[in-house]
Amino acid sequence: MEQQKRYGHFDDEHREYVITDPKTPWPWINYLGNEDFFSLISNTAGGYSFYKDAKFRRITRYRYNNVPMDNGGRYFYINDGGAIWNPGWKPCKTPLDFYECRHGMSYTRITGRKNGVEASVLFFVPLKTWAEVQKLTLTNQSNETKTLKLFSFEEWCLWNAATDMENFQRNFSTGEVEIEGATIYHKTEYRERRNHYAFYHVNAEIQGFDTDRETFVGLYNEFSNPDAVMEGKPRNSHAHGWSPIASHYIEVTLQPGESKDFVFLLGYIENEQDKKFSAPQVINKEKAHALIARFDTTEKVDKAFAELNAYWDALLNIYKVRTGNDKLDRMVNIWNQYQCMVTFNFSRSASFFESGIGRGMGFRDSNQDLVGFVHQIPSRARQRIIDIASTQFPDGGCYHQYQPLTKRGNNDIGGGFNDDPCWLIFGTVAYIKESGDFSILDEMVPFDNQPGSEVTLFEHLKVSLNHVINNLGPHMLPLIGRADWNDCLNLNCFSWDPNESFQTTENVSEGTKAESLMIAGLFVVTAKEYVKLCDKIAKHEEGERMQKAIDAMIEAVKKHGWDGEWYLRAYDFYGRKIGSNECDEAKIFIESQGWCTMAEIGADEGMVAKSLDSCKKYLECEHGMVLNNPAFTKYIYEYGEISSYPEGYKENAGIFCHNNPWVIIGECLAGRGNDAWSHYAKILPSYVEEKYQTLHKVEPYVNCQMVAGKDAFRPGEGKNSWLTGTAAWMWYTVSEFILGIKPDYDGICIDPCLPETATDYTVQRKFRDADYDITIHPNGQQKGVKQIVLDGTPIEGTVIPYSSGHHTVEVTM
Ligand code: BGC
Repeated sequence: MEQQKRYGHFDDEHREYVITDPKTPWPWINYLGNEDFFSLISNTAGGYSFYKDAKFRRITRYRYNNVPMDNGGRYFYINDGGAIWNPGWKPCKTPLDFYECRHGMSYTRITGRKNGVEASVLFFVPLKTWAEVQKLTLTNQSNETKTLKLFSFEEWCLWNAATDMENFQRNFSTGEVEIEGATIYHKTEYRERRNHYAFYHVNAEIQGFDTDRETFVGLYNEFSNPDAVMEGKPRNSHAHGWSPIASHYIEVTLQPGESKDFVFLLGYIENEQDKKFSAPQVINKEKAHALIARFDTTEKVDKAFAELNAYWDALLNIYKVRTGNDKLDRMVNIWNQYQCMVTFNFSRSASFFESGIGRGMGFRDSNQDLVGFVHQIPSRARQRIIDIASTQFPDGGCYHQYQPLTKRGNNDIGGGFNDDPCWLIFGTVAYIKESGDFSILDEMVPFDNQPGSEVTLFEHLKVSLNHVINNLGPHMLPLIGRADWNDCLNLNCFSWDPNESFQTTENVSEGTKAESLMIAGLFVVTAKEYVKLCDKIAKHEEGERMQKAIDAMIEAVKKHGWDGEWYLRAYDFYGRKIGSNECDEAKIFIESQGWCTMAEIGADEGMVAKSLDSCKKYLECEHGMVLNNPAFTKYIYEYGEISSYPEGYKENAGIFCHNNPWVIIGECLAGRGNDAWSHYAKILPSYVEEKYQTLHKVEPYVNCQMVAGKDAFRPGEGKNSWLTGTAAWMWYTVSEFILGIKPDYDGICIDPCLPETATDYTVQRKFRDADYDITIHPNGQQKGVKQIVLDGTPIEGTVIPYSSGHHTVEVTM
């Protein structure tokens, strides 16, 4: 294997990934903000900001699919006696004497040096703040006095990111700004139905500004050579319509060795309806002034930054492992948990692969995401569960997606994805086990957000599983509906029209026999959890009812879902097998292997072991396990989108990382630690980082949704980074099944599944009001806990009963 070029490295001590070459194979991005105000930022400072919802409340503009890519962002231009450059290299692309981008926990620091001047910018969104802080530090490292001309730059988006890109006949006339001192306000549409505006401020006196894009850039120029910057002269333009921007102009003189800070603030404000204006046409700036005052000095900014770091210290202190393997420890202790927070916040809405326009919060996606996040801030997971359940229909079906701003189901996408309801149990159970808070089950939650329709959350769980039971097909297996987890297995779609979306086209459901083995496995896993929950809350009859449904489902899978060496994937509309040795292509699929082995269906009959072996034999390759094998080579009308992808990509035999952990958990439950680990390490970013930076292309510090599979033109190439259920599943898998620390109703269950080579390791786990220092001695065993000693006393079984305070636990395998 040839040595691949490296673009950066991990700095574990600072919890940062350090990028040392701006020309990464793709933009390598980070996320700022934790709750309401968010920004995406690339290693060259590209990206954009929004409030809560990347579609409806987009604050700054970004151009997807552009050339060059990653165009638009927060740019600082430095004109040093005619030498013009940016600290993040782009957009001028003037070669720098030094460049570095450090992506950390909710912050990014970009530093550039040129001709003896250093410009370092720290970007972050302070806690509980609707603003992005950009602290720019300019330092004169030369021996002569430097007089610099500094220009800032942000481009406003006209709020709705979709119409911003479409409705130009209107947009070019609506833009409005106000300028007050060093603050540029963006108030497009504020005169009518909006009660929000944005601003861009700097805590210094400015010598000029620009707010009209064409005046600043020049009609025939680009971001890389704006007229005003090239000439070193702002135009003091006042935008009326067209494309409003915000640019400050500051003249800075620096003595040798001198350094100056500038705090730029991109803020967002909402006003009450009756307090919108301070004079006719003049926006009420009171709240903006207050926000600016919070960050008008370096000291205040540094304090806010320290608070952000302390916040992350606390979050990352909840689960900490020490194995001695840096590559594992850094993913578990830092990056995997960090990515889980990001996927919890964004679902699949806004990344450099998700436009922020098409997809809001997914019903199934968000339930899975919260399992990766629930240990960090259980109260936010609780609220999320209620929000998600509120979009459910009375029959247990649900909207596939909802908008974060309105929390309403998305009508364009609709429902009918028959796996969706089960995930509500998956999410809720994880929340109760972590928090011990059973009261969530009594919470009154509406259907489809309709006032008056409220029932308890427990009732929602019940109708969720009933939805599966009430929608069984001819083999008594779950009907698939529009699709199950695999959005692209569209068995009732039948589309020949390229203008139709596979996801939203009206399905033929009359007479369908399309059934899913993936939902069958998912049902067994989640319904078993439901039965345990029913026992806990003394709903024994309900538990028994569900147990019967589980038993029936298991029988149906054994009878109609087993192909001899692996589990079938589905039956099509006409009742023909999918994912069978009898098929020409796609004889085996990963999803049903994962879920039916997790459900341990037919374990006694050897089905689980055979299925896991088949995954190794047919699905595994150098970069992970592919989704199906062999890949489809032609479009199959009866299967839909899955067969529309070229071989080896996405749902057609790509390594869809999200589902690899399902098989890994299956391996763990079967006690096959060596196999579990080898599958896991193949898709663990830190291992990929070491070997494949150029091939893989996307950010090496997080998982991506898909890596091109063995049938692809370029196997190993990653795509769709950041927003993927892989994050939560990798976390769930490693924290609970491999390292084996599993929250349960009454305490923590300890049951690791490790490779034989594993050596002693420790886990520090905060759990409710308790702190556990756990040391595990694997003794070369893959599975099986021999003894647990709690605070010096041996206990029975594998569950450490919960009690507050500090505890020491010794585990011998
Ligand atoms: C979607 C998931 C889906 C997966 C597989 C992802 O892009 O967000 O909901 O399960 O693709 O199709």
